[in-house]
Amino acid sequence: MPSPPNYKHSKPSKSRAGMLLATSGCMPFPLQGVTMTSWWNRIVLGLLVLFALSQFLRPSRVNPPVVAAHTIEANLAVPPEVAATLQRSCNDCHSHQSVWPWYSNVAPVSWLLAYDVRHGRAALNLSEWSAYPASEQKDLLTEICTEVSDSDMPGIPYVWIHPQTKLSDAEMKSVCRWTAAASQAKQPTSQQPATTEQHAPDTD
Ligand code: HEC
Repeated sequence: MPSPPNYKHSKPSKSRAGMLLATSGCMPFPLQGVTMTSWWNRIVLGLLVLFALSQFLRPSRVNPPVVAAHTIEANLAVPPEVAATLQRSCNDCHSHQSVWPWYSNVAPVSWLLAYDVRHGRAALNLSEWSAYPASEQKDLLTEICTEVSDSDMPGIPYVWIHPQTKLSDAEMKSVCRWTAAASQAKQPTSQQPATTEQHAPDTD
């Protein structure tokens, strides 16, 4: 416990917060009697309590089931190397196949990851491609090329933490070659009505 304030103007204790102010000879009242260490301890303790409490706010980390017939691969011809790039670099935020690493359990990182996945899936969901109207599919294909060629996707800090998700120049080119070809092609299966079908045909 802090000792009672010392109103004596002479010889303030050297161990006190007032060390720096000691030369002035007169301590401001609230600082007197509180050591630097005890302020530091309080701050650290406060942060630890906040950290512990924040763990109770658990964001949802759900991968909804993947219906094979709804995926981009089932609805567009995707060359295998492009499919591999999308899986490696985009799936975490733009599909129902997100990988949730151990630190996705730890607040506040968990909140940031969940936020990214929620907004990523809302902007572009490769697992629910068939739900987009044809015109939106076309726009998204164009956007995919733009985002990867500008190196905007995958974004920072994700690429720092997962350097293997960065696209090579060759990969960017093949993504754009594919999006250009795919948006020319007829979109055969857009606007499928949502079904409750649980058993998508097995495709390989
Ligand atoms: C770490 C998560 C994450 C990864 C990985 C990621 N994205 Fe995104 N992406 C987002 C988020 C969040 C948004 C929505 C907010 C925004 O536009 O920044 C988004 C938006 C988009 C959009 C829509 C842009 C618009 O203006 O509507 C496209 C297209 C896109 N991403 C493509 C990709 C592609 C292609 C990849 C893989 C090469 C990828 N993203 C990887 C998080 C991610």
